[in-house]
Formats: sequence, C-alpha cells, structure tokens
Amino acid sequence: MKINIESFPETELKQKYSSEDNLGFGKIFTDRMLVIEYKNGAWEDPTIKKYSPITLDPSAIVLHYAQEIFEGQKAFSTPDGQINLFRPDRNAARFNSSARRMMMPEVDPEIYLTGLKELIKLEKDWAPKSPGTSLYIRPTMIGIEPGLGVRPSTDYLFYIILSPSGPYFPEGFQCVKIFVSEFYIRAAPGGTGSAKTGGNYAASLLVGGEAENYGCSQVLWLDAIHKKYVEEVGASNIFFVYDDVIYTAPLTSGTVLPGVTRDSTIQLAKDGGMTLKEEALSIDEVIEGIYSGKTSEVFMSGTAASIAPVGSLYYQNKEHIINNFEIGDISKKLYRQLTDIQYGKVEDPYGWIVRVM
Ligand code: COI
Repeated sequence: MKINIESFPETELKQKYSSEDNLGFGKIFTDRMLVIEYKNGAWEDPTIKKYSPITLDPSAIVLHYAQEIFEGQKAFSTPDGQINLFRPDRNAARFNSSARRMMMPEVDPEIYLTGLKELIKLEKDWAPKSPGTSLYIRPTMIGIEPGLGVRPSTDYLFYIILSPSGPYFPEGFQCVKIFVSEFYIRAAPGGTGSAKTGGNYAASLLVGGEAENYGCSQVLWLDAIHKKYVEEVGASNIFFVYDDVIYTAPLTSGTVLPGVTRDSTIQLAKDGGMTLKEEALSIDEVIEGIYSGKTSEVFMSGTAASIAPVGSLYYQNKEHIINNFEIGDISKKLYRQLTDIQYGKVEDPYGWIVRVM
C-alpha cells in the first residue's frame, strides 16, 4: 500500500497548545489528516495532507440521510517516550461492522491501521504527555455522492483526524450525575443502536439538554420496549455493582454499542476474580438497591470516558445518590488497571497495546 504524503509550507503549521492543563476534549486538531476516497467501487490510495475543511455538494447524501459512521480511539504517551494504541484492531473491526449496517464499503483493516500509525508518527509532537491526556483519534466515513434519492451513496470519504485531549469529563476521575431518560429512547431492536453512527447521537441531543437542566452530564437510556432495563449512557457503556455482582447490559438485543473499553473492563473484572454478568438489570432494582445498599457502585466505560464513576441517578424527579457520591473501590481498581496498561505503566498481559513507534 502506498500512502501519499502531501507537503505544505511550514509557515502553515498551526501554533501548538501552550499548556496541557486545559486541552478540553475534541477542541484542538493537529496539522494533518488521513483521507481515502472511494470511487467507482474501489478505495483509492490513502493520502496524508494538511488538516483542512472538506468541500461537499449541498445535496451530498450524508447531509440529508446521515450515511455516516465513526470510531473513537486514543493514543497514549508512555513514560519511555513511545506512543501506544489501545486495541486498534477492535476499532477497525467495529468500524466495518458499522459500515455494513449503514450500507457503506468496508475499509481494509490493514490500511486503516497502517494509515493511522503513519499519521500519528507525523503528528507525534502533538501527543500530550500529562496524566489523563491522550491523542484522541476520530476515524470517520461519509457518503458524499450528490443526490436526494434515499439510497446508499456510490462515493465515500474516509478520513482520520487527531485531537490532543484531556479527560472527557472536565472534572476528571470524579463522580458525575446521570439523568435517566423515562420517555425518549436511544435504540430499538432492529435499529442502528449497535452501529457507531452519528444519527444515534443526534437523537440523544434533546434529552441531553434536559439532563443539563438537572446538572447531569450524561443520559442513561432504558430499553425501548419496556422502558425498564438499563442499557447505555450517551457517550459510553455502563456497569452497575449490584449485590456484589457487576452487571452490564448484554449485546444480544443489538441496541447497545459493543464498546472496546466495555469488553476490556469485562475481561479485567473477571480476571480480578469479580463476578460479572452481561444481563438485563432493571432501573427499579438499581434505584431500590441504592437505598437497600445492594447498588454499591455505578461506573461508565468508554474510550473517551475511560472508566468514569457515577455519583447519582436523576430518575422520576429525584436525585438518588450512590455510595455517598464517592468513588467506589471497584471503579478505582478497574480505572487504575485499564489506564496503567494504556499508558504503558505496567506490562500488558493481554496483547492489547500496539506501539506506534
Ligand atoms: C468515544 O468514547 O470515543 C466515543 O466515540 C464517544 C463519543 C460520542 C464521545
């Protein structure tokens, strides 16, 4: 595979961030991006070029019918000056699974990974090094063919952009409040819930606004049929420690995103001797458990979110405080184990880390 590297004058390089203390999440972008066009039924050669706006026909299919998929990944700076990718093969595989659901062409995982590594090598100086920071990676594919007929595009653009970022939640590894959506739903069986496609997130924005009114930074979605079982949070999967068992929603209904961090959390918990069940748990059990002491911890898991503790659930006009709004021991342990592997502070016994350089 040949990767074209388009040069541009050094004077056009951006000014780097001056401090790693307030990068925020997804606000700063590096100098270059990787792009691959799909035309006449085939992918062209990848190009790494200057990060720049994309020109689209106003009738491009993505703009009207949301034929779009994306991934979320991170590259971590290690103490020995290297850069680690975390399970990038899983993201490439999930990207292609989303592509199939959205009638888009798959990207050869080798091209995806080699292109990503090359891009990061060129942009390595942008990778932040402070604790909790990372180079957030956003692979994306859009249907770019002009036309208003509802059908899959013939032409596509795949691109990868990089964003030096701090923690997703500005408070860092601290408890956050979550709003439980009683009326609106995220995904129904047979829908696109297990695909990483922008429309799933667009549909969440209305409730996200409502959640903010109650001081909540995320929405917890219940299953669409019974509005009873806890499924997923806006930006991540979610786990409940209930009666000394860790529960997370199963993937079987196709309404839950198969998170890479979710899968890693399950593995770490099981290997740490904890009992973990991928089984439906009802919101009533969770809330009653908060008062009986059965619900001892709740935490989210996602690439952007990492492992993030939940301090309260706002449900049926009341805030229900979990574990005195304190971070539980299981959340702390899993956060430490996961991030130590990601940042290369401990040996990776799972083969999850792929070194960029
Ligand atoms: C990620 O965790 O990387 C995601 O894609 C979630 C995102 C919507 C912030």
